[in-house]
Amino acid sequence: MKSTAIANANIALTKYWGKREDKLILPHQSSVSVTLHGLTATTTVEFDKKYSQDVFLLNGQEQSGEELERVVDILNILRQRAGSALHTKVMSTNNFPTVAGFASSAAGAAALALAASKAIGLSLDEIELSILARQNSGSGTRSVSGGFVQWLRGEKNDGSDSYGIQLANEKHWPEFRILACITTRQAKKIKSRAGMKQSVANCPYYSAWKESANKDSDEMKKLILKKDFTALGQLAEHNCLKMHAVMMATTPSIIYWNEKTVQLMHAIIEWREQGLECYFTMDGGPQVKIICLAKDVAEIIKRVKEQGIDEVLECRPGEGVRSTDNHLF
Ligand code: DP6
Repeated sequence: MKSTAIANANIALTKYWGKREDKLILPHQSSVSVTLHGLTATTTVEFDKKYSQDVFLLNGQEQSGEELERVVDILNILRQRAGSALHTKVMSTNNFPTVAGFASSAAGAAALALAASKAIGLSLDEIELSILARQNSGSGTRSVSGGFVQWLRGEKNDGSDSYGIQLANEKHWPEFRILACITTRQAKKIKSRAGMKQSVANCPYYSAWKESANKDSDEMKKLILKKDFTALGQLAEHNCLKMHAVMMATTPSIIYWNEKTVQLMHAIIEWREQGLECYFTMDGGPQVKIICLAKDVAEIIKRVKEQGIDEVLECRPGEGVRSTDNHLF
């Protein structure tokens, strides 16, 4: 009863920041992302009577506390569904640095959902997998499908209508690029989960953010289908700034940017004025993700390096979660 899955990270073009229900991970807003080729989490899950408890190793390190609990939550859902009492060993590795600041748990959540459900003998469809991944990490619901994905907020209390749907697959827009610029290698201090809970609890702008983010998500869907790059970039940038405004206006304030983040934001605006079309987006961290088209990648990377930022990862739209026979143990 062993199975292995590979999933890619994703970057939100319109963001998720805030839960209406914590345990099931139900968001206040729909969000839209692009799944990124080459940034993978590989996860092997084995259910066996030789295990007396659930063990979870991430990048070689045994996990405890919240990290372990989030995995056990998924295993418990599956055990109940399959009528099994077996414990597991779960091993997961990422091929990209956590510091890159891609909603770090998303790829792992999607890989866990597929590997664990197969290992226990269940064959889940894409929606069921997305609902399962969501309960490990919200952004994980968007890494189940490839290409461009919308995570529907849903209305129901049981979460059965809150999942990711593919808007267009990874071949839809082959020129689309994300450049992840690493402004610092220091770990962030506030995790997204804790930060967004604070924002929902006390940010005075929260309800305005919730409403406008929901509208942005639906508008983003249209722009992706039309491949309207300029409008997409403008909307993604504005949506990101609104989310960070909410973070900053939370008590205690959440300021993820460093001086390099801000320097690069200004530079990107200036390059655009000079005719080099690119836009920024940042998640719960200081790294700047540049949205651009393939034809401008070389010039943009050159300019980013001139700003004193040496590490840049180039990503294009990638595939959804899939199984492999290359088990990690
Ligand atoms: C800022 O999915 O990491 O990256 O659901 O608590 O696991 P949990 O949070 P997570 O939050 C991601 C927040 C974000 C925006 C986004 O990816 O939409």
